[in-house]
Amino acid sequence: MKTIIEPFRIKVVEPIRITTLEERRRLLEAAGWNLFGLHSDDVIIDLLTDSGTSAMSAEQWSAVMRGDESYAGSPSFYRFESAVRELMPFRHVIPTHQGRAAEAILFSIVGGPGRIIPSNTHFDTTRGNIEATGAQAVDLVIPEAHDPDAQHPFKGNIDLGRLERLLAASGEQVPIVMLTVTNNAGGGQPVSLENIRATAAIARRHGKPLFIDGCRFAENAWFIRCREHGQAGRSVKDIVRDMFAVADGMTMSAKKDAFANIGGWLALNDDGLASAARNRLILTEGFPTYGGLAGRDLEAIAAGLHEIVDEQYLRYRVRTNEYIGEKLIALGVPIVRPVGGHAVFVDARRFLPHIPPLHYPGQSLAVALYELGGIRACEIGTVMFGLRPDGSEVAADMDLVRLAMPRRVYTQSHADYVVEVFEEVVRRRDELRGLRIVQQPAQLRHFTARFEPLP
Ligand code: F0G
Repeated sequence: MKTIIEPFRIKVVEPIRITTLEERRRLLEAAGWNLFGLHSDDVIIDLLTDSGTSAMSAEQWSAVMRGDESYAGSPSFYRFESAVRELMPFRHVIPTHQGRAAEAILFSIVGGPGRIIPSNTHFDTTRGNIEATGAQAVDLVIPEAHDPDAQHPFKGNIDLGRLERLLAASGEQVPIVMLTVTNNAGGGQPVSLENIRATAAIARRHGKPLFIDGCRFAENAWFIRCREHGQAGRSVKDIVRDMFAVADGMTMSAKKDAFANIGGWLALNDDGLASAARNRLILTEGFPTYGGLAGRDLEAIAAGLHEIVDEQYLRYRVRTNEYIGEKLIALGVPIVRPVGGHAVFVDARRFLPHIPPLHYPGQSLAVALYELGGIRACEIGTVMFGLRPDGSEVAADMDLVRLAMPRRVYTQSHADYVVEVFEEVVRRRDELRGLRIVQQPAQLRHFTARFEPLP
């Protein structure tokens, strides 16, 4: 059959409240034209993030009832640990309440002033946790990643030459090498198995452990299966095992590729590092067999990990974003290509060339999507990255709008609706105006800044 259907039936539904254009205009004004300020029940299709927004399966909800809430030694922990180890065979698995908690623990041990931590592209919480210790986060993604039109199959790959040169020149300052799979900050682009193995070989030659930020490991493995030479007939599970077999550790947000609404972990092989991490965990998260989670959360993650490597699911998952991407291209909307695993990234600067970067074309597009269709997306551009510590402003590298797809939540007709709203935005494109910021905090302004539309 040609149509790739949602490979699930719907047992529980959450009604969507359909707002009117007038209502949404009022709500936007009240929120200072910042979509983070909206109440989510005023949103028709919420594409703000794919994190923690998955629909859990009947198996996961059943497992939740089995959650054992003992302080120490809960069987839920051991089910969680063995589900993780079945895919990522690390000696130590340390649960945390979400991904950034695993990062904070890891970098409190290996970070510090004078240290340098390279990656393809650090996600912003990873970078933030590295920099909070006084260390430097360095992005070494391949140059194709910066060109929205470059049709490279693995645009998340790290530049091996630059990594080698960094380790040769300043190796003593580098405690670990990282790789983010898929590369969220670069558009959800995958890293090839070949690149993971080559990175591990370079790191090993310099005596450095390799840590993978594995948030979207299953989507990455699916891309390897579809795009990498010699991987086509293999099971996703085997590819996942190969990805992690050459690594020394990982950080994880179970809010992505574990179908959980909360959770994460730090996993690693080194006994000394694991012991230091557990000591830190007890201070900040909890005892090592629950680490900031309830037993029922550990159960939901364990069940989710069995489901996420399902090939029918992954085919549907990646197809949903490709489907929206193809229709946007047909409408003449510029997007980052090829479409990533969890989201479609629209190039708002190219779509709205009459709005200069310091008038925030990404914010203007995001506001229009909400105003015209009740869709909530996320600006990833000058609002997010343009404010410097001295208070001055610069244009970000790109002005993108991310349409992140929650897992197993929306159907094809929701996707068609998103495309129709874009049709309306395209019709009104010349009328769209930029915005100015009327109030903002000194850091992370995109969460709370208030805007006003320019005349
Ligand atoms: N690493 C990557 C690649 C991520 O995308 C995220 C979260 C984290 C780490 C942190 O995990 O949220 O559980 O603490 N990304 C979300 C997003 C917030 O919308 O892309 P967390």
